[in-house]
Amino acid sequence: MTIFQSPKNPKNPKSPKNAENTEDFGNAEKIPQHVAIIMDGNGRWAKKRGLPVSLGHRAGAEVLRKLAPAAEKMGIRHLTVYAFSTENWSRPTAEVTALMNLLREFIKKNIEDAKKNTMKMAALGDVGKFDQDLQDLIQQMTDITAEKQGINVHIALNYGGRDEIVRAARKIAQLATKIDEITETDFAQCLDTANIPDPELLIRTGGEMRLSNFMLWQSAYSEIYTTDTLWPDFNAKKLQAAIDWYSTIDRRFGKRK
Ligand code: FPP
Repeated sequence: MTIFQSPKNPKNPKSPKNAENTEDFGNAEKIPQHVAIIMDGNGRWAKKRGLPVSLGHRAGAEVLRKLAPAAEKMGIRHLTVYAFSTENWSRPTAEVTALMNLLREFIKKNIEDAKKNTMKMAALGDVGKFDQDLQDLIQQMTDITAEKQGINVHIALNYGGRDEIVRAARKIAQLATKIDEITETDFAQCLDTANIPDPELLIRTGGEMRLSNFMLWQSAYSEIYTTDTLWPDFNAKKLQAAIDWYSTIDRRFGKRK
């Protein structure tokens, strides 16, 4: 695993490490099939502007709406975004309500846009805890986009890596006839991400360096890219910078080459 933090004040503005701030993009040799993103920094973005946190989340949702088609154009096949964690329920009620309403709005827009775009959209996580109307919207979005051939956008909702592993353990305990013969592949098939390749690149915005219970199983060999950019300031150019960085990595998966 390689962890990269984009520099705050790069000394050499021409350095490839400063790609985030240059126009020099589009030369990534290796495009990851699956990019996972921890979209952090909405609250700080709002606070800096004297705005309520809900407007930070709203700006963040707009970024996601623009980024998914851009990721599709770049050739990324799967994009997983951490939109609401199992821990986020303990935020102030007003913030949780604002996030739920934003989610409704976001999904409705995606359902409308499904006619004109090629993205396949579905949720990861235990969505059974959401209000029924929201569950219905998630199902509608999944069904309407199920046959699309473009990028697969996985929205992690009421998602927690530990919760996912426990749910998978319960599933496999019911399915397995010979416990001793359970393989990693069998177990992976019981996760929410069954049939989705592991993310090669995991991006975290907002400057902090932790997984926050996101894709704990799947990120075993992900390359981790962190940037101080707050999520509402993230864009396609910054995604390209992360991919350019990823393309320079010699991935060894614990082996010696
Ligand atoms: C973390 O920012 C972000 C979240 C808890 C939610 C992510 C949600 C969005 C990007 C928008 C909504 C998405 C959809 C799909 C509707 P934070 O509030 O923890 O930021 P902070 O660390 O600056 O406080």
